[in-house]
Order: sequence, then structure tokens, then C-alpha cells
Amino acid sequence: MGLNVVILAAGQGSRMNSDRPKVLHALGGAPLVVHAMKAGGLLSPDRMVVVAGVGADQVRAAVLDWNPDATVVVQDSQLGTGHAVLQAQGALAGTGGDTLVLYGDTPFVSQGTLAAMTCARARHKVVVLGFRPADPGRYGRLEMAGDVLERIVEYKDADPATRALTLCNSGVVVCDTDLLFDLLAQVTDANAAGEYYLTDIVGLARARGLSAGVVECPEDETLGINTRAELARAEAMLQTRMRAAALEDGVTLIAPDTVHFAHDTVIGRDAVVEPHVVFGPGVTVESGALIRSFCHLEGCHVAQGAVVGPFARLRPGAELGGDVHVGNFVEIKNAVIAEGAKVNHLSYIGDADIGERTNIGAGTITCNYDGVFKHRTVIGSDVFIGSDTMLIAPVTVGDRAMTASGAVITDDVPPGALAMARARQINKPGLAIKFVDRLRALKAARKGA
Ligand code: UD1
Ligand code: MG
Repeated sequence: MGLNVVILAAGQGSRMNSDRPKVLHALGGAPLVVHAMKAGGLLSPDRMVVVAGVGADQVRAAVLDWNPDATVVVQDSQLGTGHAVLQAQGALAGTGGDTLVLYGDTPFVSQGTLAAMTCARARHKVVVLGFRPADPGRYGRLEMAGDVLERIVEYKDADPATRALTLCNSGVVVCDTDLLFDLLAQVTDANAAGEYYLTDIVGLARARGLSAGVVECPEDETLGINTRAELARAEAMLQTRMRAAALEDGVTLIAPDTVHFAHDTVIGRDAVVEPHVVFGPGVTVESGALIRSFCHLEGCHVAQGAVVGPFARLRPGAELGGDVHVGNFVEIKNAVIAEGAKVNHLSYIGDADIGERTNIGAGTITCNYDGVFKHRTVIGSDVFIGSDTMLIAPVTVGDRAMTASGAVITDDVPPGALAMARARQINKPGLAIKFVDRLRALKAARKGA
């Protein structure tokens, strides 16, 4: 049976105190809405619809960037969660199956929990995800009769007896698609908030004699983000999980609390990560690699046995082959460094291909940018690039070639050639001493004057 996922992401998020739509604030390097999309995506839905509103164009761009097959619909005014889901009706017309509703600001719902909900659909027409928070606060309350959910009462509409209930609504719901929209058509805004509540579908289903049920999950999974403080707390939770998972996977983290992961960081078994390393999005590190202290990696791949850092920066498109060494104060961007090559000190390697076993001397720079265009530097294998070489791209250096230290390479270097491109040195005998003596005399004369 087919499954649709609808993610509600139209809200203002005013408590973030931000110009950026709430669901675009980053957690583990990815927008919050992407976390909801990832959670829903684990069920392999047939369709995913994101309901955007505030900052819809930005939200659409982020959603499609993550999943070009997703649909973004716009809720022009935020009239409530029920009204928000209704905006997806056109996009889901004729699909049938089930529809799962998630919130764009609730990133931690687990695959197991969502699977339990879709299973519970065999017993109930509507399944709601409930939880028992330490402080039930202003959450909607779930009114049960045995194991049947009778209705959801919003805090604003609840009497003291209902407010005393401890089982709360997370907002996650799964329901037969056609029934969902049929019930939503009946929802009104006659309530304390003057909103169209999605939660009203439960009472409406029960009034038709249809059954509704609850799956419970731990409170952590339902954590919704409304403030910067909650975002920071969620980040800490995510980091704790990622570190635990890395350790579990056989990665050595010498000081786990100082290593910062992105949501999608992949690190192989027996890799070692020293203290104070930051992983941005899109990094894979193969087993046995060593990432030394104070490195920043993003959008890159580090193969087996490579050693990176300390103090190295790998930017998007950096591809490090097996046993490559990248040392201190080296920046690599959009460059393929083949097996066994070394870039050990103080270099910038951008838009380049570097062949196997090639050694890049200290202070080498690929001058890739002419102010308008980027150009590529191609260096063969077993090349020796002398210290402080400037490679003015586009330029090619053939296999087994060398460049002299301090060379400014503007022309291609044939294989096996030694390129020297700097002024020839002249030694003037005794001139240094003569020169300094003259300066000292000048200084003494000025003092005396
Ligand atoms: C909702 C639930 C409440 C539950 C709580 C859990 C309803 C009526 N109430 O309340 O039972 O305990 O979540 O956090 O559903 N949104 C839109 N368009 C709208 C309104 C909301 O897209 O018109 C989105 C928001 O951006 C947010 C989500 O829906 O991601 C929930 O909205 P919110 O206003 O936070 O609902 P609550 O009042 O917290
Ligand atoms: Mg809320």
C-alpha cells in the first residue's frame, strides 16, 4: 500500500527571533526541515509534500536541494495544522494509501517509532504518536478509553481534568489518505485558538464509529524546536548520538566531546579522530584514516590510511586517495590527490589533480582564480614540486617532472623536465658589510645633528 508523507513547515517560528524561517535553521549542518524529510524518507514513501508558508521560496529551495522529487505547496496564511495539511490535498489527489504527517521543526522521530505507527494502522483508521513528557505544559492531551483514542483536546480548550492527563500529542499522525481529507473537510475553527486543528480528526473519526489509536515514544523523539536555546539543546543531543554511534562503529575518538559531527558524517572502522575536529556536511572517512587535531572537513572524502592535519582544512570536492598525507595549514578544495601523494605544509591546492606519490613542497599554491574564472592545475605522478612554487592555472606538470623552489610556473612542464622560473641569483662580494656600515654611519650622523 502506498505512503505519502506531509511535512508541516509553514509556521513563523517567531521565538527564534530570526529573519530566517525556523525550519531552515541548521542542526548537524542540515536545515531542520531536512531532518524531518530524512525521518519520513526512512519509510520509503511514494510522495513527500512539504507545506511551506513563511519564507516559502527559501524553504522550497532547501527542500528541493535535498530531494528534487519532493513537492512544496504554500499555505498563504497559517490558519492551523488542519488547514496546513489540507494544502497538500491537490498534490496527493488520487494517491490513496496512507498519509503520515510530520512537523518540520521536530527532527528526532525515529524510524522504529514511525514503523510502529504504520503497523498500528492495521488496527486503527487513525494512529497518533503520543508521549508522556516530564512537563506536559501546553501540549494537546490524548483522551483514551482503554486502548482507543477518543479525542485530542488542545490545552487552550481543555478543562482542568483534561489538563491533568499526562499522555500528550506529539503532532505526528498517520491516517488513510482519503479518510484524512474527508475528515479535514469537516474541521472548523470554532475553538479557543480560532484555528483549524488537525487534532480534531480523531473525534470526527470516532463519531463515525472508526477506531483511533496511539503509539507512544520517548519524549526525546518529539522534541520540537522553537527557540535558539532549544536548537542548541537539540544540537547537543545530536552530537551525543553521533559520537556514541561512531564509537560503537569502531572509530577511535580520543576526546569525543570535542569532535563535532554533521548529520551525515560517515567514518570507517579503526579510523582515529584526534581532539577538536569539526565535520561539516558530506564527509566520508574510510577505515584506518587518521584525522589529527584541529581539522575542519566538509564535502570531502578521505581514503584508507590517509593522514590529515593537524590544522588542515578540506573543503568541498577534496578527494584524498589512500595513504595521502595532508599536513598543517594546508587547504584543499575541489582537488583529487592520488594515492601516496603528500601536501605537508602551508599550501593551497584548489581545482587540481595531483598524481600518485607526488610531493608538493611547503608553501605551494595553485593560483586557480583570475578574478573571474577558476582554472585547473594538473600534476602527474611522481612529481616533485619545490617549496614555494606558484602554479598559475591552467597549467599541467608532467609525470616525474620537478619545479625549482620559488618557481612561478606559467607554462606547462613536460614529463621529466625540471622547471626553473625565477630570477638568477647574483652574489656581490663584501657588499652586505659595506651596506650595513654605511647605514650605521648615517644613523650616527643623524643622532649627532
Ligand atoms: C500542535 C498540536 C498539539 C501538540 C503540539 C506538539 C494541533 C492543533 N495541536 O500544537 O496537540 O501537542 O503540536 O508540538 O495540531 N503549522 C503550519 N501551518 C499552520 C500551523 C502550524 O505549517 O497553520 C506547522 C508549524 O510550523 C509547526 C507545526 O505545524 O511545525 C505545529 O504547529 P504549532 O503551532 O507549533 O502547533 P502547537 O500549537 O504547538
Ligand atoms: Mg508547537
